[in-house]
Amino acid sequence: MHCVQEVTPQIFWVGGNDRRLERFENMFPLPHGVAYNSYLIMDEKTALMDTVDSAISALFLENITHVLNGRQLDYLVINHMEPDHCANIEELVRRYPEVKIVGNKKTFQFIGQFYQAPLQKNFYAVQEGDELSLGRHTLKFFFAPMVHWPEVMLTYEQSERILFSADAFGTFGALSGNLFSDQADFEAVYLEEARRYYANIVGKYGMQVQTALQKLSGVEIRMICPLHGPVWRSNLSYILDKYDHWSKYLPEKNGVVLIYASMYGNTENAMNVLAAKLSQKGLSDLRMYDVSKTHPSYIIADAWKYSHLVFGAPTYNMGLYFVMEALLRDMAGLQLQNRQVALVGNYTWAPGVVVKALRGLVEGMKNMEIIAPPFEINSAMKPEQEPALDQLAEAICASVRQLG
Ligand code: FEO
Repeated sequence: MHCVQEVTPQIFWVGGNDRRLERFENMFPLPHGVAYNSYLIMDEKTALMDTVDSAISALFLENITHVLNGRQLDYLVINHMEPDHCANIEELVRRYPEVKIVGNKKTFQFIGQFYQAPLQKNFYAVQEGDELSLGRHTLKFFFAPMVHWPEVMLTYEQSERILFSADAFGTFGALSGNLFSDQADFEAVYLEEARRYYANIVGKYGMQVQTALQKLSGVEIRMICPLHGPVWRSNLSYILDKYDHWSKYLPEKNGVVLIYASMYGNTENAMNVLAAKLSQKGLSDLRMYDVSKTHPSYIIADAWKYSHLVFGAPTYNMGLYFVMEALLRDMAGLQLQNRQVALVGNYTWAPGVVVKALRGLVEGMKNMEIIAPPFEINSAMKPEQEPALDQLAEAICASVRQLG
C-alpha cells in the first residue's frame, strides 16, 4: 500500500523510513532509524526530486505510481548521487523511458560510475542558476559542491519558495508520521540526531556549507525539504542558525565534555575526580564518555556542541591508547576546531609519552587551545596529587566562565 503525504497541494512526499538498518554508511548507529525523502511535483510537467535507498525501493515505486496516477514522469532531478538517494534511477528509466535526468557534469560522471546501463540519452544537463519550467512551478538550480559530495545541487522552486536541500538540514531519525518539524517536538526528538548527523556526515565541509548559506542568503525560502528527516515550513531561522553555528565550528554551549579511555579504571577514576571538582566549582551539564563504550559519532556530536574538551588516556604500546587515537584522528578528519582543551595522561613506566601523543594530535587541529599543563598520573592517582588536579579544575572553570 502506498504511503504518501502532501507537502503542498501539488507537491507530494513519496519517500519512506528504514528502522531496520543497523548503521548508516555501515558506520553510524541508527537507534531511531532514518528517513529517505523524495518529493514529486505534479504540474503540466512532472518532476521527482531524488530517489531513495534500495532498502525501501518497493514502497517508493508504489508511491510514485500512485501519485502519477497514469501520467508520465517527465523529470528526475538528482540533487545528490550518494546511493542512499540514487538507488532507483535505472528502474525509473526502465519504467519511464522518456524521463529527463536533471543533473550536472559531476552527477552524470557518478551515474556512469554507479550504473551499468547506458543512461546518457536521458541526461538533461543544467548549469548554476539555470531555470526549468514545469508549468506553474519553476525550478532553479544552485550548485553546492561538497555539501556533502562534489555533484550536490540545491533546487529552489520559485512559485512556492521551496528549497530542496539535498543532505543539508537533514537528520538521522525516521519520521513517525509527522512530516513537518513543527508537528514533532524537534528539540526532544531530533536535535541530538541532527547534530550527530551534521558533525559526522557534513562536519568536514563547514566552509562549503558557509558558501551555500551565503549563496542562499538573498533567496526567500518558505520551506526546506531535505533528503533526511522532517520538512521545515516554520521557524526556518532555528535550523539555519544551527547550521551557521555548526559550519563555523562555533560551540552552541559553554561547557565541558570529559572523554576518557581506561583499561583498569585508574584513568577513569582521575577523570571522575576531576568531573566532581568541576561540578563542585559550579559547572553544570557536564558530559562524560568512555571511548571504548560509546560510538565515536555521539562523542563527536557533543564535541561540536560544547566549548571545552578534556581528553584522558593511558599509555599503550609506548603511544596513545588506540581507541582514543582513532577518536582524535576522526575529529581531526572532520576539521573540528575552535575548542579549549585539557589533557590527562596515565603511564606506568614511560612518563610523558601519552600526554605528548595527545598534545600532538590536538595541536594538529585548527585553533585548539590547551588551556593548562597536562595532568599526569603514575598508574593510579594519589591523594597528594589533589592540589594539582584542583589547579586543572580551576583553570577549566576559569576558561569556561571567560566565555560568558
Ligand atoms: Fe544522505 Fe550524502 O547522502
